[in-house]
Amino acid sequence: MDLNLTDKVAFVTGASVGMGREVARQLAQEGCDVAITARGQDRLEATATQLQTETGRSIVPLVGDMSQTADVERCVQAALEQFGRIDILVTCAGSSPGGLLEELTDDQWMQSLNLKFMGYVRTVRAVVPHMVKQGSGSIVLVVGNDGLKPSFWEMTAGAANAADLNFASSIADQYGPQGIRVNTVNPGPVDTDRWDGLEKAFARDMGVDQAEARRRAEASIPLGRITQPDEVASLVTFLASDVAASVHGAHILIDGAQRKPLMER
Ligand SMILES: NC(=O)c1ccc[n+]([C@@H]2O[C@H](COP(=O)([O-])OP(=O)(O)OC[C@H]3O[C@@H](n4cnc5c(N)ncnc54)[C@H](OP(=O)(O)O)[C@@H]3O)[C@@H](O)[C@H]2O)c1
Repeated sequence: MDLNLTDKVAFVTGASVGMGREVARQLAQEGCDVAITARGQDRLEATATQLQTETGRSIVPLVGDMSQTADVERCVQAALEQFGRIDILVTCAGSSPGGLLEELTDDQWMQSLNLKFMGYVRTVRAVVPHMVKQGSGSIVLVVGNDGLKPSFWEMTAGAANAADLNFASSIADQYGPQGIRVNTVNPGPVDTDRWDGLEKAFARDMGVDQAEARRRAEASIPLGRITQPDEVASLVTFLASDVAASVHGAHILIDGAQRKPLMER
């Protein structure tokens, strides 16, 4: 399938590792130039060099913290100065602490909302005026199935994700008539560094070892497997492309039909 992405420009947040890195890789393989963001400079630059070598496309590393408005605006500006436009925005910079209501602090709740929800809001707000001027654009928010199901051990993620979904529906409504498509991709557990950290915390809170925590996570998914980051990236890349021209305001699950909470009562 030709996705018709040659010479498009993408901006991908949280892309030094994990799903963001796979999204940047696949977009570049399809012919996009890509600006990637993360906080850690060394890892981000190493990823940019690796993806540029692999794909022959221009990959620009932009160090910035997506929980800080000034950093988001500086990174978007730098991408525009480098490439002159942004056709595709994919947000992946997010993390939300797992834990039980009794143990979660105000700071942990605010940390989740400030990055996973407001980080996405800030990035869209900085990019969308340029897409409006262009009269086109495709936005994909990588959110998570916790926004659509209860999970008492993952409630900070669930609340931030539910807010992201509503936000995405609203901007789809507002900007669709101006040629900008907005969709969300909602994974269950995906094999990344973030998942490894969650699995360890889950094991600690359940009083089991990590192998048992993983077995229980897999058992909560009818397909019985943890998703790989490149599977999520393929869905994002399809949605970002014009091949998905009629897919708009959609919240797409990629979670093996996981409907149960990770941790059983
Ligand atoms: N993995 C899962 O099971 C899963 C499931 C559902 C949804 N999700 C969501 O999917 C998205 C990607 O998750 P992932 O598992 O791929 O994460 P990951 O492997 O932990 O990678 C996160 C990336 O985001 C960057 N990042 C973290 N905090 C940042 C900040 N404040 N500003 C800028 N960059 C930041 C990290 O680099 P630095 O640390 O250097 O900044 C890294 O490049 C997240 O929104 C996550 O909540 C994940």
